[in-house]
Amino acid sequence: MFPERRLRRLRRKGICEILSENTVSRKDLIAPLFVDERAEEPVGIGSMPGQMRYPIDDTAERARELWEKGIRSILLFGIPAEKDAEGSSAWTEDGVVQQAVRRIRRNVPEMVICTDVCACEYTDHGHCGIVGDTHCGPDLLNDPSLAVMERIAVSHARAGADIVAPSCMLDGMVLSIRRALDAAAREDVLIMSYSTKFASAFYGPFREAAESGYAFGDRRSYQLNPANANEALRESEEDAMEGADILMVKPAGFYLDVLAGVKTLGLPVAAYQVSGEYAMIRAAAERGWLDEKAAVLETLTCLKRAGADLIVTYFADEAAGWIP
Ligand code: PBG
Repeated sequence: MFPERRLRRLRRKGICEILSENTVSRKDLIAPLFVDERAEEPVGIGSMPGQMRYPIDDTAERARELWEKGIRSILLFGIPAEKDAEGSSAWTEDGVVQQAVRRIRRNVPEMVICTDVCACEYTDHGHCGIVGDTHCGPDLLNDPSLAVMERIAVSHARAGADIVAPSCMLDGMVLSIRRALDAAAREDVLIMSYSTKFASAFYGPFREAAESGYAFGDRRSYQLNPANANEALRESEEDAMEGADILMVKPAGFYLDVLAGVKTLGLPVAAYQVSGEYAMIRAAAERGWLDEKAAVLETLTCLKRAGADLIVTYFADEAAGWIP
C-alpha cells in the first residue's frame, strides 16, 4: 500500500524504457505498394498524401528502397490497364501484379512478397468477384467467385509471391485457395487471410488509390457489420480451420477488442491500418494539429499491445526511420 508502493517508480526515466511490455520493430511492418500498369512515372494519390502509384518499371527500385530502410515485407495491389466483368486481367501471366512480383523477386530476392488477392480493381463493376442476380438483387456471387480467387492466387504464386492475401471475404475462400495452390505444387506459399474484415467507411481513400470503387450497391453482404464482435471471431475461426497461416483484422485501430479476440485463436495475426486511418493522421498532422511521429508510433504500439504480430501500414516507410 501507499506510501511503500509507488507505481510511478516504474515510470522513472530509463526504468520506463527497459520495462516497456511491447515494442514495434521494422520486421513487424508490411508496406503496401500500388502498382499501376498505365503509369509512366510515380503518381501521387490525392486522398493519401505521401503515397504513390508506381509504374511496373519502378517497383523493383521502390522495393529495394524499402528493403534498405529495414522493411522486410510488402503487400502488392495492382491497377490494371483493362477491366471486364470477370476481372480476367487479375490472373493473366503478364498481369500487373505478376510482372511486379517477378521483378521484385529478381532484384530484392529476400523481400517477403505478399499479394492482395481480390478482383475489385479488375472488374468493371468494382465488386470483388463475379456478380449476378440473387434474391436480394444484384450482388457478389460466392461460389462462382471462388474460382476467380483460385486463379488469381495461383498466378501470383507462380510469379513468385511468398504469401497470398485474399481480401474478398467469401465463404470458403481459404480452403479453395489452399487446394488450388497445393494442386499447383505451391504448398509452401502461405495464405494470409483478410479473415475479419469489416464493411468500413475508412477504406474510402483506398478506393481512389486502387480505382476500386463500385458501380452499384456496397460491400455489406460480404464484409462484416462493425457492430458484430462474435461474428467477427467466427469469421477468423473459419479461416483458421480452412488452413489460413496468418489471420488479419481490418481496419485496425477501432477494432482492438476484435484483434485481441482473434489473437486467442493461436495463429499469427496481422492488423491492417487502413487508408482512412492513414488519411486521418496525415491530414491532422499537415494542419499541425497532431504530432505525426508520436501519433503514428502510438497507434502502432497499441496494435502490438492488442496482439498484432504484423502490421500493414502506409506509414511503414517513415516509421522504419523511427524504430529499431
Ligand atoms: C480489396 C481491398 C480493399 C482494401 C484492401 N483490399 C478495399 C475494399 O475492401 O473495399 C482497403 C485497404 C485500405 O483502405 O487501406 N478488396
